[in-house]
Formats: sequence, structure tokens, C-alpha cells
Amino acid sequence: MKALQLTDHPEQRIQLLDVPKPVARRGEALIRMQAAALNHRDEWIRQGKYPHIRPFCTLGSDGCGVVEAVGDNVDAAWIGKTVIINPNQNWGSNPAVQGKDYRILGNPTDGTFAEYIAVPIDRLHEKPAYLTVEQAAALPLGGLTAYRATCKHGAVKKNDRVLITGIGGGVAQLAMQFALAAGAQVWVSSGEEEKLQRAIALGAQGGVNYKNDNWDKLLMEQTGGLHLVIDSAGGVGFSRFIRLMQPAGKIVFYGATAGLPTTLDLHRIFFYQITIQGSTMGNDAEFAEMLQFCEKHRIAPIIDSVRPLDEIISAFDDMKSGKQFGKLVISIA
Ligand SMILES: NC(=O)c1ccc[n+]([C@@H]2O[C@H](COP(=O)([O-])OP(=O)(O)OC[C@H]3O[C@@H](n4cnc5c(N)ncnc54)[C@H](OP(=O)(O)O)[C@@H]3O)[C@@H](O)[C@H]2O)c1
Repeated sequence: MKALQLTDHPEQRIQLLDVPKPVARRGEALIRMQAAALNHRDEWIRQGKYPHIRPFCTLGSDGCGVVEAVGDNVDAAWIGKTVIINPNQNWGSNPAVQGKDYRILGNPTDGTFAEYIAVPIDRLHEKPAYLTVEQAAALPLGGLTAYRATCKHGAVKKNDRVLITGIGGGVAQLAMQFALAAGAQVWVSSGEEEKLQRAIALGAQGGVNYKNDNWDKLLMEQTGGLHLVIDSAGGVGFSRFIRLMQPAGKIVFYGATAGLPTTLDLHRIFFYQITIQGSTMGNDAEFAEMLQFCEKHRIAPIIDSVRPLDEIISAFDDMKSGKQFGKLVISIA
């Protein structure tokens, strides 16, 4: 079967290879993949910027497919069902934080950018009927990350004034959809004017370009102060969130794409009782809750484009360039 693996190719570092089809071992299901989707994690792994990287591993954390076979100790009723995969592996016993053996599907274990994958049966959920195969494939990792950050740590609620940064991002868009579904007022940031307009068309109140030197001043004028920030960029811009917060406001961040902040106004943080909360993925119960939340509010990930598995390397290049608005989906069947 075809699989996209991390190799020693001098330029691309990834190649579509012919590899043995996996088999479903005890407790596992063999899934014939129909669609998969990229996350920035996949591009970070290609660039070697991720822990536990295993060469000649099939990449990909997100996907949707049909159960073709099951191993011992698995109910045969799963065969023929269309499923999505929870990318969490070994979260551990503490719901508040993942344990030391925690991993994410798609390195170091073989992932979804392949014609087949074998995974433990407890990772599977039936595809929500209201989603297309492509939409379902695009939901798991981004949906879980956005749900924990926005709905759990962020506890977003009706009328909260929320900033979601980098709205071109896959997780950021789901966070915006979740916050809007909760009745919050959402502002966004982006490096591209067109993406701001697209977010406004989807329900955001307004937006600012983070490349504009005055973005924080403009945002203060528009919002009068924020209850919640959901960020994945970090960098020097992170320091400016502090002045934008309402007393007792919360800044939740799940990435640091732009690096570290150079300053942090600690006086303001303690005096105004501001919380800075890190967030990573989410536990298995939150994955199930996220699916229920999406189903209740009929939330579907925004899809930028769908291309065949043979063209998957171009999707990595698009992810790196950051031009997309929505998930980059790979059609496999
Ligand atoms: N901790 C976790 O569990 C977890 C889970 C998922 C993702 N992440 C991390 O979160 C980040 C986003 O992941 P993703 O898959 O959503 O990536 P993505 O789809 O590639 O989105 C990245 C977005 O970051 C925005 N961005 C870049 N520089 C920025 C800056 N200086 N200020 C504000 N926004 C900026 C861009 O938004 P515009 O295009 O609008 O400019 C870009 O679209 C990555 O660093 C990823 O590794 C962490």
C-alpha cells in the first residue's frame, strides 16, 4: 500500500512509499482510509522540530475511513462502519494533564497518511452522520485542541469578548466556531486582510492584522477589553494581550509558533488577577464531549482544499507557506 513516510530525501524529507499493508492485531481494527487531513504538527515533524521523531514512520494524525477487518477480542459489528480516529495515545490517569507515555498518532506510531492503518479499537468513534468524510477527517486533532483550550480551560460563555489569533490556522478556526456556538463575541487576528474578512463573514465581530504595529490599540478600540484570548503564536505579541484583558480575564495558549515573549507585565497580571493557561490536546473524555458539542451545534471544519494522496507533498508545502484558509484534506479512497 501507499504511505507518506518521513525519509532521508535531501529536499522533501518525506516520500510516498510502497509499504506492507498492516494487519489488525488483538484489540485493533484495520481501517481502509478514505480521507486524512494535515496539522501544523506534520510540517513541524518534516522540519525535525518535534520530540520522539522516528524515521520511516507514516505521518498523519487525522483521518476517516471504513473498518475493513478486526483482530481478536474485537466485536465484528465494527466491520463496515465509517469511523474517525481519536489521535490521543496513552493520555494516562490524570484528566488534567497527559502522562509521560503520552503520544499523538502519526509519529512515533504509524499515522493516517496511508491507504490503511491499524489502531486500537478504543480510538474509534463512528463518523458523525452530518459530516462528510472530508470534514470528519479534518476534525480530530484540531477539534480536540480547540475544545480543551476554548471550552474547558477558556470556559467560554455567552457574551464573552474573545480574541482568537491567527485565524488562518486550523485549530484557531475551530476555536472560533466553538466560541460562536457558545454565544461569545469573537474578534480575530491574521497576517492577511482577506482572512479577516472571511472570518467576519463567518460570524466574527471584527479583526486586526497582527502585522500592523497598532493592532492592540485597534483591538482595544473595537472591544473595550477582552475576557478571553485563545492563542497559538506567542512571540512578542503575547505581551500585548495583558493590557487588553478585562480584570480576571484568561489567556489560553496551545502553541508558540512565533517564539517566546520578550517581556511580561507581571504587575498587571497579579493586580488584575489575569490567568495565563497552557493547553495541549485534550483527554479522551474531552474528545467524546467535543464530538457531541460539534454534533449539537452542527459544526464542520472549514476545508481549504482536497487533493489526492499522490499530491500530498504539495499540501505540506502549502501548510508551510500558510496561505490556506481551512484544513488541507487528502482524499485517499
Ligand atoms: N499544544 C497542542 O496540543 C497543539 C495542538 C495543535 C496545534 N498546536 C500548535 O499550534 C500552532 C497552530 O497549529 P495549526 O495546526 O492550527 O497550524 P496552521 O493551520 O498552520 O495555522 C498556523 C497559523 O498561525 C498563524 N500565525 C503565524 N504567525 C502568527 C503570529 N505572529 N501571530 C498570530 N498568528 C500567527 C497564522 O495565521 P494567519 O494565516 O491568519 O496569519 C497561521 O495560519 C502550531 O504551532 C502547532 O504546533 C499545538
